[in-house]
Amino acid sequence: MKNNQPKNAYKGGAEVFKGYVRLSSNENNYGPAKSVKSLIKQNIKFSNIYPELDGESLLNQIAKSYKINSKQIILGAGSDEVLQMIYAAFSRPNDEVIFTKYAFAMYSIYAKNFKCKVKLFDDKDFQFKLASLNKIISQKTKIIFLANPNNPTGSIFYKNELIKFLNKIKKTTLVVLDAAYCEYIKDHKYDDGMRLVKNYSNLIITRSFSKIFALGGLRIGWGYANSKIISQLYQYKKPFNVSRLSCIAAQESLKNKKWINESIKNNSVNKTLTCKQLNNKSFEIIDTKANFILLKFKNSIITQQFVDFLHLNKITVRSLSSYGLNNYVRMTIGTKTDMKKAILVANKFNV
Ligand SMILES: Cc1ncc(COP(=O)(O)O)c(C=O)c1O
Repeated sequence: MKNNQPKNAYKGGAEVFKGYVRLSSNENNYGPAKSVKSLIKQNIKFSNIYPELDGESLLNQIAKSYKINSKQIILGAGSDEVLQMIYAAFSRPNDEVIFTKYAFAMYSIYAKNFKCKVKLFDDKDFQFKLASLNKIISQKTKIIFLANPNNPTGSIFYKNELIKFLNKIKKTTLVVLDAAYCEYIKDHKYDDGMRLVKNYSNLIITRSFSKIFALGGLRIGWGYANSKIISQLYQYKKPFNVSRLSCIAAQESLKNKKWINESIKNNSVNKTLTCKQLNNKSFEIIDTKANFILLKFKNSIITQQFVDFLHLNKITVRSLSSYGLNNYVRMTIGTKTDMKKAILVANKFNV
């Protein structure tokens, strides 16, 4: 029962998962690495003990893995919580915030919670130029949220464009670069923004352990920026906000480079297979560089029929109607077995 949910509540992917092929929440269906699962098991017995206050051991591991200063990192219960801390620390009611019309839903949910004025950039063609977005920025813009690549549209921008964009933004406007899916992108023109933080005092990067690292259920993510910004975010961080098991799992995931590389490869191989073998005149396929693809239908009725048909066949995909994209479905790239089943069922869909 969800009778306590506010009107603007986040509409997640399907909650069912046992017995279902779950392609609705952009998770990594291969699950956490073996070493991660075994460490979680070994540490269950310490569940009575509070975690480290700020997750220091994980902060140190992130700092080591990415060659950055641990004082410039803050942990959150998912990168969602880091986004919330950004709003709490840097926005005041009526402040102007900017993001794209089809941006990740939490940007607008928090904007409502913190009573900010939203200015939307219309990314109706999905892929867009940052220079065009630049045109709607005003003297009053407090924060700009940009996911690169974006969920759900898959839009992406490259390093050169990002630098040109950042150069034009005044230092009192914060730019939040949400890199939840960055690990999937191996194109050398792409940049997750980490190395730009030293040159741009107004840049915050957010990162997630929910996607490639397969820890969505443990809720762990982080933010990276200059130490002044991070210390302001700490004012809004609860003590013990990230759990002991989440930190242990995240730490081990970072160490397991072989498993990360396998996950990148699995996504790429299974995505290529899916795009090649999905063959149904009811929809067009839109490929992305992340761990999902989009299916575009003729109208919203057929779109919903497709979602229902897959559900009936024990496959969950994400209708994008809550984003106002009524003719689109987002399909996460799962395991090879998942995708073979999804291809078989989706190709049988007949209107
Ligand atoms: C673009 C984007 N940013 C942030 C998040 C939130 O991820 P987390 O699970 O780390 O809170 C998601 C989750 O789907 C996402 O798609």
